[in-house]
Amino acid sequence: MSTAILVQDAYKKFSKDKKPVWKNLITRKSNGVVPDKDNANGSKSSIIAVDRVSFSVREGEIFGILGPNGSGKSTLIRLIATLLLPDGGTIMVLGYDVVRQSMQAQKLINRVSVEASFFKKLSPMENLVYGARLYGMDGKQTRLKVVEILTRLGLEQRAIYKPMEEMSRGMQQKVAIARALLSQPRILLLDEPTTGLDPRSKREVQAIIRELNQEKGTTILLTTHDMVEADNLCERVAIIDGGKIVALDTPEALKQSIAHNGHEPTLEDVFLELTGKKLVEKDEQMG
Ligand SMILES: Nc1ncnc2c1ncn2[C@@H]1O[C@H](COP(=O)(O)OP(=O)(O)OP(=O)(O)O)[C@@H](O)[C@H]1O
Ligand SMILES: [Mg+2]
Repeated sequence: MSTAILVQDAYKKFSKDKKPVWKNLITRKSNGVVPDKDNANGSKSSIIAVDRVSFSVREGEIFGILGPNGSGKSTLIRLIATLLLPDGGTIMVLGYDVVRQSMQAQKLINRVSVEASFFKKLSPMENLVYGARLYGMDGKQTRLKVVEILTRLGLEQRAIYKPMEEMSRGMQQKVAIARALLSQPRILLLDEPTTGLDPRSKREVQAIIRELNQEKGTTILLTTHDMVEADNLCERVAIIDGGKIVALDTPEALKQSIAHNGHEPTLEDVFLELTGKKLVEKDEQMG
């Protein structure tokens, strides 16, 4: 089986400087040096979001990236989706380099994230038909498919025609997933596809992911905090912490790699053993 996504030594750092650009302009000295009050030696502190990560996803695989808040999951997804430029390493999508051949790579990928952007004044139907036109799809066919997908995801008929800004986050997430499904990409990048969904919608989205993978052979790379989801859905899982992959294997092998502690190990136990930390659910942290 061939490789769909190849990530080699991917590296991404962000400057920690939170000062807006205009402030730097105002405080700029006549010699052009930008003073940095945070740091005595003048060098800006930075955060390494993705720290020399390597892995590959096979064509037709469902691959999961599991990690706590801030571990670098979204950054990694955005690097693969050509939305960010890496500071080091190589990323290939079906043989195309995401930096040098970003146009070709973009055509093969679709990304769904929780911050998906829509025309808020327009309805899901209008947004999706607009999106589909960009992919050269026929309007009538699209409308039928939109109704089919959104109904399956449990969105009420009337919600399909009302402005996006009146919808809850979970509902908007479903529309974002529907948009990705419409274009039938070869590779689907799903950044926390089920976060914020109620249990029924969560199962429905998981079923759709599985179906898409089995029937269309779509390669799926997804991130999640949900260990049960990773266990049930993914052929292989990479556990990431502090921008580094700390383990990568099938859920079964990961669980077998740690000692039984009176009960069958879960992926939660694996994470705890490898990092000494608990994988805290986003909702818990915010609450
Ligand atoms: N645009 C940015 N500018 C500065 N720092 C960033 C930026 N994006 C991410 N970071 C930092 O990089 C690190 C990794 O963030 P990232 O969003 O990739 O984590 P994550 O694993 O997706 O977290 P979560 O589970 O909360 O979505 C964090 O420390 C974050 O603060
Ligand atoms: Mg994230």
